[in-house]
Amino acid sequence: MCGIFGIVSRKDINIGKIALEGIKRLEYRGYDSCGIVTQYDSKLFVKKDAGKIDVIHKKLKLDEFPNESKLALAHTRWATHGAPTKINSHPHLDCNDKIAVIHNGILENFIELREELLSKGHIFKSETDTEIIPHLIEDNLKTNGDLKIAVANAIKKCIGAYGLAICHADYPDTIIAVRRESPLIIGIEDGKTTYCASDIPAFLPYTNKCYILEDDEMAILKAGTVEFYDVNNISVPKQKEIQKIDWSIKAAEKGGYKHFMLKEIYEEPTALRQTMKISNDSLKDFAETLLSAERIYITAAGTSFYAALAGKFIITKFLGKYIQAIECSEFKIELENSLEENSIIIAISQSGETIDLIEAIRWAKESKQRVKVLSITNIVGSTITRHSDKVLITQAGPEIGVAATKTFVTQILAQSLVALEIAKLIRTESNDEIQKYYNALYSTPKVIENFLEKNIDLIKYIVRSLEKNLNFFFLARGISIATAKEGGLKLKEVACRFIEGYSAAHAKHGPISLVREGYPIIFIAPPDNTYERLIGNLMEFKSRGGKIISLVVKEDKKIADLSDITIRIPQPGDKYHTLFSPITFIPALQLLAYYAALEHNLDPDKPLNLAKTVTVH
Ligand code: M6R
Repeated sequence: MCGIFGIVSRKDINIGKIALEGIKRLEYRGYDSCGIVTQYDSKLFVKKDAGKIDVIHKKLKLDEFPNESKLALAHTRWATHGAPTKINSHPHLDCNDKIAVIHNGILENFIELREELLSKGHIFKSETDTEIIPHLIEDNLKTNGDLKIAVANAIKKCIGAYGLAICHADYPDTIIAVRRESPLIIGIEDGKTTYCASDIPAFLPYTNKCYILEDDEMAILKAGTVEFYDVNNISVPKQKEIQKIDWSIKAAEKGGYKHFMLKEIYEEPTALRQTMKISNDSLKDFAETLLSAERIYITAAGTSFYAALAGKFIITKFLGKYIQAIECSEFKIELENSLEENSIIIAISQSGETIDLIEAIRWAKESKQRVKVLSITNIVGSTITRHSDKVLITQAGPEIGVAATKTFVTQILAQSLVALEIAKLIRTESNDEIQKYYNALYSTPKVIENFLEKNIDLIKYIVRSLEKNLNFFFLARGISIATAKEGGLKLKEVACRFIEGYSAAHAKHGPISLVREGYPIIFIAPPDNTYERLIGNLMEFKSRGGKIISLVVKEDKKIADLSDITIRIPQPGDKYHTLFSPITFIPALQLLAYYAALEHNLDPDKPLNLAKTVTVH
């Protein structure tokens, strides 16, 4: 939800070019408009407009700013307050064009603040909430001449979420960064250049050394140095620990693939292998906590929620306790009157920044009940980790495509590893049995590799054959409903098609009325204990003229024989491998969505109206 990039350097560099590349790497956070401000000779130089970055760059030459300029702020926007227009694009300036601000988040009390500032004579140009901030700083600077104090005072008046980067025309070597609820990371090349960004990949080509800004912390960035303060006590600098990120920049680049989405699907085997290295101690810790719980909830949003639905099945199988899955936006409403003592919440999020999820777990932790939060995320130091009692970090590497792909499979894997750890602790299965489940789980990367090697033409053929069908269903039962729902979400997101993942049994209670001769239905059909019943459901659709496409294991016969087209996942059909089928089956549906997007001339990396990290309610 909006990407922020800031740089202040003493190196001889083209600051505009680096700022441009920085927001290009953050474009997955929002792409309604963009802008860059640089500073030189007590002046600010601003270029901004509505549209995607490449288009604006062609028009405005975003890499051409005064050569002497060594400081820049750059922003890519996902519009909330105010339409995606040039005037609403960031940066926003004060009345005298001296203070520039870029913002990720939402100010809730902006109407009151705007009225107050208007009554003092401030002039606003945009409809945004962000524009309040430069004017508030301007106002504060009139009473005390110190930029740091003025920013702190301005911020204290704001209610809401913000990651902010601020510069002033008369402070040639200073960016002030401050955050609450929206992520902000400070990167540093010692003695040379300092960066701030909403996400690490933005500065990863230059440094992997960073500080993660916490709520209500302020960073004063100078070229190659940084100081930290508590917004509520800015007289004393505070110490922060530097972190080294072990992501390589290659992982955040397209590396020969046409789109990040495709690259990230192909990275799934590696992401799984890396995530298998999660330490046994943390898995055991998770498992023991779940065993001690009286009540367990699992919560997330979007793709992470569907990973949770699959994980819930796998964990429950060994734990033998019911796990209630609730979408994070509904969590508080559903449990307001029934959250019980000693409950555990499993919270899953790729970004670790989804605001509805953060709000849900914060609410639960602050309640009278003694609730613990176990979280699974891909981002070290993200907000969710600070609100969790225990954390598992998936090792998917940076995921840039807005549509989540490789993080989905790693989230299910992490939950599966916890499930098997539980199996080891409670010993209801023999060691030999548990080992067979491990072997099956460890084989998932190879299964995906084999699938990707041989099935692309088939997927493209299916996409072409579905060309005329604007809507259809993925149907499944049991654990595969999670796979079906995630497949449906991918097609909606990237191919703009209303394809719904649905329960095959439930479909006869309504959706079946859509079926006509040739209406396509894709059945997700691993050979688990729902298989025979699924055949019955399939027949209900087939006998009404439905065109059946099925996703089955390599040796499948019954469902394959009943299908018009069969996609075979190259894995055995035993109960061990079948349990983890959401991991091995999903790449087929992700690829279907990817090629359907291309068929419709859509950019799968930048779905309309979406942003990678959703930091608004
Ligand atoms: O970062 P999170 O996993 O918390 O994000 C949750 C959803 O916003 C996310 O999965 C979204 O649905 C993706 N666009 C799915 O591809």
